[in-house]
Amino acid sequence: MSSEQYSFDLVIQQGSVVLAEHTRVLDIGIKNGKIVALSPRLSNKLAQSIDASGKLVFPGFIDAHTHMGIPIMDTISADDFESGSRAAAFGGVTTILDFTVQEKGQSLQEAVEIRCRKAQRKSYVDFSMHVNVTDQPKKWRSQIPALIEDGFISFKLFSTYRQAGMMITWEQFRQVMAEVNAHKGVLMLHAEDNDIVETQTELHLNQNQLAPIFHARSRPAEAEAKAIETAAEITRELSAQLYIVHLSSQAGLEAGIEARRKGTDIILETCPQYLLLTESQYHEPDGHYYITTPPLRTESDVNALWQAIQNGDINTIGTDHCPFTRSQKNAGKQQFHRTPNGLPGVETLFPLIYSYGVEEGRIDLHRLVDLLARNPARIFGIDHRKGEIEIGKDADLVIWNPKVKSVVSVDRQHGAADWSPYEGLRITGSLEYTIRRGQILVQEDKFVPDKAAGELIRGKVSD
Ligand code: URP
Ligand code: ZN
Ligand code: ZN
Repeated sequence: MSSEQYSFDLVIQQGSVVLAEHTRVLDIGIKNGKIVALSPRLSNKLAQSIDASGKLVFPGFIDAHTHMGIPIMDTISADDFESGSRAAAFGGVTTILDFTVQEKGQSLQEAVEIRCRKAQRKSYVDFSMHVNVTDQPKKWRSQIPALIEDGFISFKLFSTYRQAGMMITWEQFRQVMAEVNAHKGVLMLHAEDNDIVETQTELHLNQNQLAPIFHARSRPAEAEAKAIETAAEITRELSAQLYIVHLSSQAGLEAGIEARRKGTDIILETCPQYLLLTESQYHEPDGHYYITTPPLRTESDVNALWQAIQNGDINTIGTDHCPFTRSQKNAGKQQFHRTPNGLPGVETLFPLIYSYGVEEGRIDLHRLVDLLARNPARIFGIDHRKGEIEIGKDADLVIWNPKVKSVVSVDRQHGAADWSPYEGLRITGSLEYTIRRGQILVQEDKFVPDKAAGELIRGKVSD
């Protein structure tokens, strides 16, 4: 079919379009929110057009790990879906996968409905929810098949946070995994061995060692490795699949690779904080701001994770976006166990991985797209709509000018946090447009939409 037969709502002209394996100068024709044409030249006399020559055009990025407005300790993470999704759009993220919050006594289904209502008409970017299973897994397990059928295909368990009432036992892990696996869903795990964490935490509290570095000492890399080993063994016995969230350490990575060597189907996600920051931050005057779980690690952990990004051992990068303001963090100052844990990240995800991955020569553009778009789309069953620039997919696009240089500054960030863990880090490139289903969300410094029209994207399990 010749391009003249199409009529477009918008054409992105002559950008260097980052496809799965190649980057090509192309025009992208958009109609009704979908990519309908990809061609060296499209004639487009009627539609709106954007000149992208000299710019890179990426698929909209997917942050598969955010926590908008969740309760932690005595407070709530600072971004709700409104502010958090605005920040996402300014970072080129057009889809977020957040998590339900299962209250005590609440069914999984109810938790999904409540959480989706919080995002609807608030989120500017498209969204879905992973289903947290933190209360009475045995009772609610029977809801899993219907949720998967309904497009909520991923379930998350915690092997720690016992005192916060979120931990499951390994027997419960086995039961939930069996159910999720039987219906081809995705089982995600926050992997830290709770016995190690509680023992180490007690030890430091008893010695009145409350400074931020003791957050890291209380949650050592061995705790991550041990939980991954245990979970992988069960996964192997059930011939299931396991997704490890926020992998932070070399020891955890080695446990994951060893599990793969033994034949376990294991997917590894890491986050920018584990690639760019180290535990030395905890010794700084504002060290308590950096309290996040798992904690920041050492330089050699950072190097091992980058190596795994380069050689394909790590499959996705999400952010674990869970920001707190200075005043929220200060409420727990000098008491690591009372400081709300979490960091902002959704807005800096792509700029940082572009700058420290691609520009530093560690990965190419296509690997970046694998990590931040294609892989999360495929793993979470939304690749029928998201993750790639392809005819028929949603017109989620990011236009990036690789020639501009800047630094991360909280003054130019759009989330609710009034500080950034990445303040001062060098960024190569600047975001010119974020487009979600053909709608311009961000045009340079300007936020365009007057209403939050992010859509719930339902996942599909593979046959
Ligand atoms: O400290 C963090 N990362 N807070 C968010 C909850 C979690 O464990 O992912
Ligand atoms: Zn976690
Ligand atoms: Zn998280």
